[in-house]
Amino acid sequence: MLIESRYALFRGKIGPIEEAKVSILAAVVNYGLAVFEGIRAYWVPEREELLVFRLFDHVDRLRRNGRILFMDLPIPPEEVAARAIELLTKEGIRGDAYIRPLLYKAAPELGPHVHDSPCELSMFATPLSRYANTADGIRAIVSSWRRTSDNAIPPRGKIAGSYVNAALAKSEAVLGGADEAILLTQDGAVSEGTVSNLFLVRDGQLVTPPVTAGILEGITRRTVLTLARDIGLDVLERTVERSELYVADEVVLCGTAMELAPVIEVDHRPIGDGVPGALTRRLAKEFDDAVHGRRPRHADWCTAVTVGH
Ligand SMILES: Cc1ncc(COP(=O)(O)O)c(C=O)c1O
Repeated sequence: MLIESRYALFRGKIGPIEEAKVSILAAVVNYGLAVFEGIRAYWVPEREELLVFRLFDHVDRLRRNGRILFMDLPIPPEEVAARAIELLTKEGIRGDAYIRPLLYKAAPELGPHVHDSPCELSMFATPLSRYANTADGIRAIVSSWRRTSDNAIPPRGKIAGSYVNAALAKSEAVLGGADEAILLTQDGAVSEGTVSNLFLVRDGQLVTPPVTAGILEGITRRTVLTLARDIGLDVLERTVERSELYVADEVVLCGTAMELAPVIEVDHRPIGDGVPGALTRRLAKEFDDAVHGRRPRHADWCTAVTVGH
């Protein structure tokens, strides 16, 4: 994905992206000591507005996850949200967009530790349409790399360094001819994708691994659970075994960047009929409506931003 930002929030100010640089001595560079967020904004042409999806939930997750690494937001959450909006307007993005806040340890450190060093907050916004062409369905493999456990590097923390695990799995998938990787926990249960949570459909029931399965507690996952209940679907959070993927009627990955991506093949086995399933398509439509402000009961999920010409 190409990043086309012209500005960044850096050391408390929004300035040119070229000036937002950290030293090679910084702990974040050497040890991956940071937590981050990925937030999407959708352009709604008829309203001439950007709708930022669940902005406050993302900022709140950043605040909470910071605690794992002894980091507090340097500005109040409302101000983080306001800075995100300011970046979108300054960039003048009149199309779908992505916002990346990063809470990181910038101090020069020779040894890794998290307890007594200050942190800083950076943020940029960039145009982003689709993460990949996922509408027709993607092919996944179960990775030979296991998800880091909560007792190693907590996946729920969205910790920068933990994305080495995701990167190894993603590259294994792509080099092997697939699009995505599905990671298992140390115990062999299904966890999640490299940047997405996972759902499967079995006999009309929507099933997803629990938050204790080494997953990031995804905001899209939470959204899908709500939308599924809205349309009367039976949903269950429970341990999922690997072979359940092969016998599922449908499998879908979901996340801020990927949105809802139907999985049509896992480990060379077609899922269902080998095409995106009916429930996945129904949920993707509900999701698309929600993020574009077409679900009045969930209007509070969308923060409207006016972007000038
Ligand atoms: C490892 C991982 N799991 C799941 C998700 C999906 O989370 P969300 O829906 O909050 O973007 C992401 C993306 O942020 C991720 O990186």
